[in-house]
Amino acid sequence: MNFRNTRITQLLKIKYPILEGGMAWAGTSILAAAVSNAGGLGTIGSGSMDRQLLTQEIKKIKTMTDKPFAVNIMLLNPYAQELVETVIEEKVPCVVFGAGNPAKFLPLLKENNVISMAVVSSENLAVRLERAGIDAIIGEGMESGGHIGDVTTMVLIPKLMDCLSVPLVAAGGIADGRAMAACFALGAQGVQMGTRFLASKECQVHEEYKNKIIKAGIRDTVITGEKLGHSARVIRTKFAKRVCELELDCPDQAEEMLVGSLKRAVVNGDVEEGAFMAGQCIGLIEQVESVKDIIEKTVFHAEKIFCGGQEV
Ligand SMILES: Cc1cc2nc3c(=O)[nH]c(=O)nc-3n(C[C@H](O)[C@H](O)[C@H](O)COP(=O)(O)O)c2cc1C
Repeated sequence: MNFRNTRITQLLKIKYPILEGGMAWAGTSILAAAVSNAGGLGTIGSGSMDRQLLTQEIKKIKTMTDKPFAVNIMLLNPYAQELVETVIEEKVPCVVFGAGNPAKFLPLLKENNVISMAVVSSENLAVRLERAGIDAIIGEGMESGGHIGDVTTMVLIPKLMDCLSVPLVAAGGIADGRAMAACFALGAQGVQMGTRFLASKECQVHEEYKNKIIKAGIRDTVITGEKLGHSARVIRTKFAKRVCELELDCPDQAEEMLVGSLKRAVVNGDVEEGAFMAGQCIGLIEQVESVKDIIEKTVFHAEKIFCGGQEV
């Protein structure tokens, strides 16, 4: 097993097969540049951005790295079409779609030599996207932070391996080299991490967000929005528990509480009304480290597990 020469490192022209998961509000150009400079694939999380904001972030990252990077586009964003056009205009090497089926955008991206990937939690969608010409699939298990499906990484990745020919990246619950090695054993050729990068020195989320991750245990997340049709894993707080309680009887009130709640957590560290999206692997993260240390420790440890490589 060679972790530095996989179908994902070849496709994306990166040193290590580690992708930064797109993260609305938290995935800034500064964090993305740090990931790309450390040999992974940094990702600008465009969340609810419009064309102008995304253009600014892309121009900014180009001043910080000359390595490949990606833009994550949420298909729920009403500006998704414009953001795809922006990615093409700005010659961004790669786009990663979240929350839906991006098939209609794939021919245009291919014509313009932009690599396309999509985050999926369902094997049916993955197969449809492979047929539509996607370059790689990111299978995301329900351990992950943010919006989630209903199957674990441990089960989803082998299932996707059985269905797909395009390269596969595993996401959800990966915070160290042990999990990376496990995902490669399941057949993935790359891994995507979100929560682990929140607790990095370069991540600009509020200190309170990072503190919560460091202090939390593996059972300290809850799923909000399950009864509203948009499940999201967040750190257990009074606010998150209240949202869960209201979902059945007062769904409109629960929806209203969730609007803007990730921004409030990221920007203000607002424990009263913020939703601190994070995955179950918070319980495995013990300190804030530099992006370079996170990436190198993860790869070196995974290599050691597989082939007795360098000790960290
Ligand atoms: C704070 C936060 C925000 C996220 N926002 C997005 C997003 O905007 N688009 C997306 O495709 N995935 C989003 N995700 C999911 C991540 O890209 C990634 O797939 C996930 O975090 C991987 O699981 P992990 O958290 O266990 O590492 C988000 C995750 C977190 C923790």
